[in-house]
Amino acid sequence: MKVDVLLGLQWGDEGKGKVVDVLTPRYNIVARFQGGPNAGHTLEFEGKHYVLRSIPSGIFQHGQTNVIGNGVVLDPILFMEEATELEKSGIDLKRILKISRKAHLIMPTHRRLDAANERLKGDSKIGTTGKGIGPTYTDKVSRNGLRVGDIECDFERKYQLAKQRHATLLKALGGDADVDELEKQWMQGIEYIKQFDIIDSEFFINKQLAEGKSVLCEGAQGSMLDIDFGSYPFVTSSNTVCAGACAGLGVAPSKIGEVYGIFKAYCTRVGAGPFPTELFDETGAQIRRIGHEFGAVTGRERRCGWIDLVALRYTIMLNGVTQLIMMKSDVLDGFDTIKACDAYEVNGQVTRDFPFSIEQGITPIYTELPGWKTDMTQFTCEEQFPKEFSDYISFLEQKLGVPITIVSVGPDREQTIIRKKNKL
Ligand code: GDP
Ligand code: IMO
Ligand code: MG
Repeated sequence: MKVDVLLGLQWGDEGKGKVVDVLTPRYNIVARFQGGPNAGHTLEFEGKHYVLRSIPSGIFQHGQTNVIGNGVVLDPILFMEEATELEKSGIDLKRILKISRKAHLIMPTHRRLDAANERLKGDSKIGTTGKGIGPTYTDKVSRNGLRVGDIECDFERKYQLAKQRHATLLKALGGDADVDELEKQWMQGIEYIKQFDIIDSEFFINKQLAEGKSVLCEGAQGSMLDIDFGSYPFVTSSNTVCAGACAGLGVAPSKIGEVYGIFKAYCTRVGAGPFPTELFDETGAQIRRIGHEFGAVTGRERRCGWIDLVALRYTIMLNGVTQLIMMKSDVLDGFDTIKACDAYEVNGQVTRDFPFSIEQGITPIYTELPGWKTDMTQFTCEEQFPKEFSDYISFLEQKLGVPITIVSVGPDREQTIIRKKNKL
């Protein structure tokens, strides 16, 4: 069997959680491959609302196995908080969730280092989620990290060594190294993690595939936040692109099947960094208001703008997207005119290719399309789409070169239209 991957094509918060939940009944296993509690994946069904941070979004369907892969960074405190809440609401998490031995642990001092790094950057700070993501991945790459598997072997000594190293760094950076209170909760979190099935997830997933089981990989963040290809340095610290699923789960590239690329009918970004199609006017405020564009984790206002096809073509190429999923179409229901940026003007030259830097001197060139002025939130099939909306879909498909196979018209699980083009 092949592994299908679902990932965000913009700057995160595209609606990955919702769609993973919708697609889960088609799979045996759902696995997260990167990121950590910087993610906030929202799911709504039967009047309930959940935000998942480290736990995959496949836990609410029919008892599928969910895996936290080796590419994920796990904070024991936040994991315990998230998991105990879910257990209280009746999810038998210890039965359905498995955690990779090779996933790295976020320590309390990583959060402090995140804060210290941001403070030192001053005006050019990234606006991270403050969850210690960058410092944890830094330790992984510099071969100083602590992994879930270490819990089983000489843990206290390894923890103290890492903590002392962080104290030295924090002193040099002028950061706060006092973590006494957090450390108590962290150790409780470690004890809690021990109650879960800690596995060699690369063997588990490959054996399941060999037995004919199907796997859906759930990305976090979005391709424009990828450490290599995103708007560096205003990015996260992991590979959010499809290749990250191979490295973050131990799945060979030849095993990748469908790649679901998910995007909003417009575009948002949270935190600092360039955003060529950002709107600073009433239209931007209107999109934010109607789309409830506030961070699921930090509550921060999301910056809003028109859809950016230059950036989307780039991320579709990077990921080898085979099917597109368009989210939040309903947010544009009341607009007279919809704009789509199909090219940039850079230093007087028109380009349709994504440039090395988008920090300065980019003027988006827009195509204007008529709005559909129809409430689509109760629609159940594509035959109900107004002509202008069908035209918007065709326009995007033509510009992006990949079919849009799922359209979302509201936050609820039910507000999802699977088009006939969908291959599964
Ligand atoms: P993720 O991080 O990619 O999972 O996305 P988030 O959960 O951070 O942000 C998506 C937000 O949009 C959540 O509040 C969802 O409930 C909401 N949402 C998802 N799909 C739709 C949709 O089609 N229409 C509307 N109006 N809201 C949606
Ligand atoms: P989901 O999975 C949107 C952004 C932060 C910041 C930058 C680096 O919900 O789509 P980090 O804490 O990762 O070092 O922050 O990345 N960011 C996200 N933005 N959605 C996310 O996740 C994000 N995770 C990180 O705002 O700009
Ligand atoms: Mg989110």
